[in-house]
Amino acid sequence: MKVYTEKQQIVNAIDAFKVKKQTLGLVPTMGALHEGHLALVKKALESNDKVVVSIFVNPTQFDNKEDLVKYPRTLESDIELLSSVSEDAIVVYAPAVDDVYDGDAVSETFDFDGLEFEMEGKFRVGHFDGVGTIVKRLFEIIKPNKAYFGEKDFQQLAIIKKLVEKHHMPVTIVPCPIYREPSGLAMSSRNTRLKPDFKEAAPYIYEILETAKKRFGTESADEVMQWVEKQFESHELLKLEYFIIADVATLKTVKRKSNQNTYRAFIAVYADDIRLIDNIALN
Ligand code: PAJ
Repeated sequence: MKVYTEKQQIVNAIDAFKVKKQTLGLVPTMGALHEGHLALVKKALESNDKVVVSIFVNPTQFDNKEDLVKYPRTLESDIELLSSVSEDAIVVYAPAVDDVYDGDAVSETFDFDGLEFEMEGKFRVGHFDGVGTIVKRLFEIIKPNKAYFGEKDFQQLAIIKKLVEKHHMPVTIVPCPIYREPSGLAMSSRNTRLKPDFKEAAPYIYEILETAKKRFGTESADEVMQWVEKQFESHELLKLEYFIIADVATLKTVKRKSNQNTYRAFIAVYADDIRLIDNIALN
């Protein structure tokens, strides 16, 4: 499997694909790959001749420097994992910060029509400017026909769709469902950092989401939100940062339910110093 660390190399490889009229999928990642990432890669392989997997821990999207330093970096095993999926249809782009940012790793400022101020945007200042900056750069370098993003980061997915729409970028965004461990815990690169007690406690997050979904059938959004907050008040290991029921179109908290709208519940929880997020479709 080809692994490129320099922009010019990958651009040359992609030019060669385009000459042969091969279609190109892109799966942007920060590495420490797990089955959730691989599900995106496999989906991309189904409808593209070649798939670029970018592996890059993007500094501009981290508001917490310690999180950036501690983010797992496992390039060798990532490459092995991807090779087990396909040796020749996958190409890896694993650049250094200076290569992808041309020596200037700062974020652009974006207007995502307010999507960036909800949920993750409130708690991780500048995060979505960082995500927008790197994804826009990757789209410009790789020029994929399709790009694949997980619903695990539902707000990120919504923001990328907005980025593409506002900048008229010629790429189709393909959403992929959340991939879970057998316990229900959403797969995440951060899970590898959970100490055993916290790992055992973490599936509670999905249990709460499932119960919240049931309750939302008969209760108001406010009632469900209050119920969830109460469940975490007495929890010894998991600290709730937010639980919100939001309209998927605006990501704004629901005031009054309407049959015309589609809702989703979003949660962020600290397990020790590790921040976990998850979400579930409600209707
Ligand atoms: P990362 O957290 O590595 O995730 C890469 C992609 O995998 C994202 O689209 C994410 O939503 C998806 N993903 C992660 N865990 C998943 C799961 N359990 N089920 C389904 N999809 C899952 O998200 C990022 O990196 C970065 O912000 C990035 C977009 C690469 C920009 O730096």
